[in-house]
Amino acid sequence: MDNILHHIAFIMDGNGRWAKKRLLPREFGHRAGAETFRRVLTHCVELGIEYVTVYAFSTENWKRPKHEVDELMNLLTRYLKECVADADKNKVRFCFIGDIEPLPDALKAQIKETEDATRAYHHVANIALNYGSRHELVQAFQNLSKEGKTEITEEDISRALYTRDCPDPDLIVRTAGEQRLSNFLLWQAAYSEFYFTKTLWPDLSNREIDEIVTDFKKRVRRYGAVVSTDGEKGENV
Ligand code: FPP
Repeated sequence: MDNILHHIAFIMDGNGRWAKKRLLPREFGHRAGAETFRRVLTHCVELGIEYVTVYAFSTENWKRPKHEVDELMNLLTRYLKECVADADKNKVRFCFIGDIEPLPDALKAQIKETEDATRAYHHVANIALNYGSRHELVQAFQNLSKEGKTEITEEDISRALYTRDCPDPDLIVRTAGEQRLSNFLLWQAAYSEFYFTKTLWPDLSNREIDEIVTDFKKRVRRYGAVVSTDGEKGENV
């Protein structure tokens, strides 16, 4: 019953509403959201969680007003610069999932620098940028087809995804009250547990993270099998 939480993923929703409540421009919500991510990542590392994945910018987020998109790109660039400066202190490896190509040049250069500077560390932070799960799957199938694969297995598909180097998320947390995946990790979430909280992302406290982790540890994960009350696996269904 004592589930081990190897990989937690967050849909960081509610930055705009956090700012609106304070009569501030939406960008202030994203800035507060970035600080929350910094704290939450440190806390997850302290809890021994090896992989933390966050949805920072989706393929659909380009539809937002240009100044908000520009602000997000600048914020991410600044944030990653700080991650490089603090690499020795944080000891977290930063990886990026999504189609990096259309991002601004300054951000792309910073992504490369951040990957290079943090490559040696064990704990992983996956930042999903210009990420869309359907796009990821289409690209994976196209690449497998280009390789000449005719008999495709589940392993082939998992290997062709951006997340090929990490285990599937054990737990996906979405803040700010919505209860949907919004094109995030559709394949990888096949057996994930979900946790939805009304808390806006910038307000997510370490104490609530602890409550979420405690809740996860109580869950019985069946993976399609029958599990008896003493935790022994029964016949498959
Ligand atoms: C969704 O909230 C949030 C985003 C689209 C951006 C997330 C970005 C950050 C938290 C900051 C930078 C990230 C990192 C990793 C440093 P929303 O704007 O849709 O909120 P709303 O639904 O209340 O309007």
